[in-house]
Amino acid sequence: MFLRNAWYVAAWASEVAERALFHRFILGEPVLLYRKLSGEAIALGDRCPHRFAPLHLGRLVGDVVECGYHGLQFNAAGACILNPHGEGIVPPRARIPQYVLVEKYGLLWIWMGTRDLADPETIPDFQHLVDPARATVGGVTTINAHYELATDNLMDLTHVRFVHKSFVDTAANSGGKQSVEQVGNTIVSTLWYPNGRPSALFSKGLDTDIAVDHWFDIRWDAAALMRLDAGMTPTGRPRAEGRQTTGSHLLTPESKDTTHYFFANSRNYGVNDPEMDTHFRKWQKIGFGEQDKPMIEATQRYMGTTDLMSLKPTLLRSDAAAVKVRRILCSLLEAEQQSESNHSAGAQVSEKGDLRGGPV
Ligand code: FES
Ligand SMILES: [Fe+2]
Repeated sequence: MFLRNAWYVAAWASEVAERALFHRFILGEPVLLYRKLSGEAIALGDRCPHRFAPLHLGRLVGDVVECGYHGLQFNAAGACILNPHGEGIVPPRARIPQYVLVEKYGLLWIWMGTRDLADPETIPDFQHLVDPARATVGGVTTINAHYELATDNLMDLTHVRFVHKSFVDTAANSGGKQSVEQVGNTIVSTLWYPNGRPSALFSKGLDTDIAVDHWFDIRWDAAALMRLDAGMTPTGRPRAEGRQTTGSHLLTPESKDTTHYFFANSRNYGVNDPEMDTHFRKWQKIGFGEQDKPMIEATQRYMGTTDLMSLKPTLLRSDAAAVKVRRILCSLLEAEQQSESNHSAGAQVSEKGDLRGGPV
């Protein structure tokens, strides 16, 4: 069960090239992404209503998608506009879903729910991704686990001193101070490690024989959009005097037990330094790909379910942010389902009304 009335990342904008058909499963549904001749990005269902062929195996004809199996053509609104067979009659119900898609911050944001509820202004701020004063490196990978487990991993950053010991060992991390705040449906969790040693992640090229403070402040918005403000500064000095990176951690469920993980680091130092790019790419490859990912996936296997709470886990104080996130998600899902069931009950009443008034 996924929240549908929420923004998800469908792709990095750069993944969807001109004149190409790109596809990805999102919330368990096949989605086709392409660009019109104008460059506008479009998201449609990727399954032909005739014999259910993947439409990405077809081709683009102008702004229209032609199915590669028997040639039905669909416009950018998802309507079938051409049947190349017989008398060319187009069955009126031959159409595919069209999703709201917005290109912003170098990402393609998709809304899988009710179109009228999609407000691009509610996409959380990820401006740092396109900030020319920063250098951004990023990518996308798949985690073979439910997306909420990947969210748990990010919302409880006490794991970094164990899982990422080789990158984020500060020698102060046993005395970290944590706080969690909820503003509306946004959660902000902060973690502060004062007076430690420089971590390998932030100290490349620096004197490591100094005392520093580290911080890891993460913001969450539904369903799984996280921004991590992390950095290191000489002990007692303002953060602006140190090194900082804003991380983007954007999770999109592919299915109930697989997750697309879009990630990036946008740093405010070494902006034109290719070696620093390489350093962060190594962090992402090892930190996310070889440290977080196997731990989350192994946890999923040992849970044997995607319902964490049904296993009655032992909870620690450091779980506060992750638990708040789960509670908010749960209430948003319940509200969405309630509104859907009200809507379908209303539709049934009006259908009966139509029948009563019909030519019986
Ligand atoms: S499956 Fe698409 S036209 Fe037949
Ligand atoms: Fe991690």
